[in-house]
Amino acid sequence: MAQVPLDPDRIPNHVACVMDGNGRWATRRGLKRTDGHAAGEEALFDAVEGALELGVKWLTVYAFSTENWKRPADEVKFLMWFNESILVRRRDELNEKGVRIRFSGRQGWRVPKRLKRHIDESTELTKGNRKLTLTIAFNYGGRAEIVDAVRQIVASDIKPEKITEKTIAKYLYYPDMPDPDLMVRTSGEYRISNFLLWELAYSELVFTDVLWPDFRREHLADAIREYQERERRFGGLEDG
Ligand code: IPE
Ligand code: IPE
Ligand code: MG
Repeated sequence: MAQVPLDPDRIPNHVACVMDGNGRWATRRGLKRTDGHAAGEEALFDAVEGALELGVKWLTVYAFSTENWKRPADEVKFLMWFNESILVRRRDELNEKGVRIRFSGRQGWRVPKRLKRHIDESTELTKGNRKLTLTIAFNYGGRAEIVDAVRQIVASDIKPEKITEKTIAKYLYYPDMPDPDLMVRTSGEYRISNFLLWELAYSELVFTDVLWPDFRREHLADAIREYQERERRFGGLEDG
């Protein structure tokens, strides 16, 4: 059946993805869970290509949560090494494509020094790019982000009655990042899992059963098609 074409005037500016299902993808194939994470690399880069083709300007992907430290030490170690390896192998290619790489999360806390160095180098290398901002949420928790904002606000001595939603937004990890228009979660799980709690307040949520390693740009386009069928009201009424 022919698919409804995407409306080029209603491409979401910011898409956020919970890249979930790597472990199940691997287990179903009789592989190790870490093979599932490795297979997720192709999905990520295809999604980046899709975002570039479609004109999405911001893509934020959840790569490691503040809760993922609870996983077996071997898996955590693999994920630290793997994310570093992706940066080292592929940052030049991302840079050439006009992608600005950013990491969002508690960088100073538990993240190995060498990975932190590669994060800083990749951020610096690509900071002038504007085609697409790829934010990798790493050691990221939505609650931790709000806690970190509150700590800074309290330290700034601002009067309580002066605190507004704008004040909080200003102290989030990337105050210039627009709120996601669309959040996609793979693997058939219907939850947020501590991703972008503040920023997702009015995002459209799309869930797909596809496991992350099988995710491709077509699935991104499908999610955007579903998004384009939604009516965003932001608490108001349809016609205004
Ligand atoms: C998502 O896949 C990747 C990370 C959380 C790092 P999972 O590892 O959660 O895969 P499942 O959910 O166990 O299948
Ligand atoms: C969310 O997935 C975190 C990432 C994708 C990095 P999880 O697999 O950790 O979430 P839960 O445990 O199913 O809620
Ligand atoms: Mg999972």
